[in-house]
Amino acid sequence: MRALTFLLLSITAVAADLSGTWQFSVTSTSGPNRFTRTTTYVFKTTGAAFTGTYVTDTDRREIVNGKIDGNQITFDTKSEFDDTGRLTPYKGEIDGDTVKITRVQTNAKNPPPVTTLTRLSADTAYHMPRELEHKPFPPFKPIASNGLAKTPPMGWNSWNKFAGRIDDKAVREIADAMVSSGMRDAGYVYVNIDDTWEGERDAQGNLRTNSKFPDMKALADYVHSKGLKLGIYSGPGPRTCAGYIASYQHEEQDARTWAAWGIDYLKYDWCSASAVYHRDEMQSAYQKMALALRATGRPIVFSLCQYGWLDVGSWGASVGGNLWRTTGDISDRWDSMSRIGFGQNGREKVAGPGHWNDPDMLEIGNGGMTDMEYRTHMTLWSMLAAPLLAGNDLRSMTPTTQAILTNKEVIAIDQDPLGAQGFRVTLDGELEIWKKPLEHGTAFALFNRGETQVKMVIRWKDYGYAAQPKVRDLWAHKDVPPANDFKEYAEFVAPHGSILLRVE
Ligand code: GLA
Repeated sequence: MRALTFLLLSITAVAADLSGTWQFSVTSTSGPNRFTRTTTYVFKTTGAAFTGTYVTDTDRREIVNGKIDGNQITFDTKSEFDDTGRLTPYKGEIDGDTVKITRVQTNAKNPPPVTTLTRLSADTAYHMPRELEHKPFPPFKPIASNGLAKTPPMGWNSWNKFAGRIDDKAVREIADAMVSSGMRDAGYVYVNIDDTWEGERDAQGNLRTNSKFPDMKALADYVHSKGLKLGIYSGPGPRTCAGYIASYQHEEQDARTWAAWGIDYLKYDWCSASAVYHRDEMQSAYQKMALALRATGRPIVFSLCQYGWLDVGSWGASVGGNLWRTTGDISDRWDSMSRIGFGQNGREKVAGPGHWNDPDMLEIGNGGMTDMEYRTHMTLWSMLAAPLLAGNDLRSMTPTTQAILTNKEVIAIDQDPLGAQGFRVTLDGELEIWKKPLEHGTAFALFNRGETQVKMVIRWKDYGYAAQPKVRDLWAHKDVPPANDFKEYAEFVAPHGSILLRVE
């Protein structure tokens, strides 16, 4: 009897042993492409505790705080790229030779999916697949500017409105609309295709388009014939964020392909690069593409997208970036736009001609904010000397959206040749005043982030003016007459509204 109990106990103990390499694969279709996505968990147990590695096609994380309690397990994953130290919690259940794992998500609308892992081997160390290994980078050396993007890039990008539904026809129509709406003449020249244009590589490793883009060179020719430029999207990892093929280990080849097509702008999105690089390799991974683009001899604006990780502003220019995203993705809501936009204060030190902070693309006209909020979006992005990449459907925008996007006096603040990024000068509850030095004069913006109309005041002497200088209201398109003994400017600002002044 005792022997039997012992035997049963040891069977349970063996069954509950997590140590080893486990996997889960699923084949799915995303747009025109099919993918098999594999998730690997490598667990290393010590008694009832465990650590390990979590790897997907797009990510590699450390497993920490692992605990086994009977057949129940809990653990967290942690990304080496996230300096906030944020943990993602998981729970699971061991059932013989399978483990069922799910993310612990409290406020999720839909419960997160359950992944059923099967044991692949007893190996407790993660080995990167051979085909993903890469040679170490040479020691990092900063490179000089490519001389492009002397003012923040202006144009349009497909992602915010179209996401995966962008195709050749829509891009041509957007290019047409860019001209007929006056956007081009207001300065918007880049027509940027974001993720989901990519097909497979051919036998020589050349990256092809998928069926949505039958002939990228012909498309580039069309866009160029309109006096516009064409942008494209890839990333330093094996896969893009939407799961399409990216440029890992094909950097020079892809740069040559794009140059041959006539591409003028590249957004290079980190995404799956976390699965193949470590944090001390990020700068070199970006610089590799910067050098590959330069080697083509074609002027191509280089846009870094890695969500502001690892203090990118301090090195984005030195890897050859003309702009770099400073945050996660914007969405078409006041709270997202305002959190991102007002959160840029303090980053002004690293921005300037040729190298810009990028608080993400515009949502103006996408329908999730009021026109007043969209005007504030435009005021704020212009004060930030941010890239102005419209993200709406230019073919069907309202006259108000068009007027917001093409306000030339506001655009001139964004595009001012001095290239200074604005910053906050006063903060009073939900009221903020920002200032942006200009080549000639200064821009002041008054923002009301609150829910009620408020009178806001600029006392000229606080900014070194003896009396009211020459002031122009750039949304009203009017010079502002001196008031109150030339001492101050005072005006009501609508809830979520803004006023933009040029002062000389
Ligand atoms: C990331 C980027 C977005 C967009 C998508 C495309 O989320 O931050 O701007 O490019 O990928 O998949």
